[in-house]
Amino acid sequence: MAAPGSMARITYIEASGARHVVEVPLSLSVMEGAKKNNIPGIDADCGGGCSCGTCHVYVDPAWQARAGARTPIEEATLEFAEDVRPNSRLSCQIKVTDALDGLVVRMPQSQR
Ligand code: FES
Repeated sequence: MAAPGSMARITYIEASGARHVVEVPLSLSVMEGAKKNNIPGIDADCGGGCSCGTCHVYVDPAWQARAGARTPIEEATLEFAEDVRPNSRLSCQIKVTDALDGLVVRMPQSQR
């Protein structure tokens, strides 16, 4: 567990299986946490505007409820993403909170 109150530990798993375990400040999105740590597989071409779909991740089923539901705009953008699954989210739309300390996300095959 990360120190309470400031950071959350997030595990990003590339499509290749490579794992990156990093501490992400609570004020950031899951996408921003990946960019800040130079993690491959999350391009985030639109910079978090919910319009590009290149920050697509699969939320580990154990974390799906805590990560929350997709927004309608997110749903619309995901329609253009490849291999969308029930646990697909746009990582720019997931805000890092204390409750997500330990979160695990996987990047799709199309983002490698
Ligand atoms: S960064 Fe473009 S949709 Fe998330």
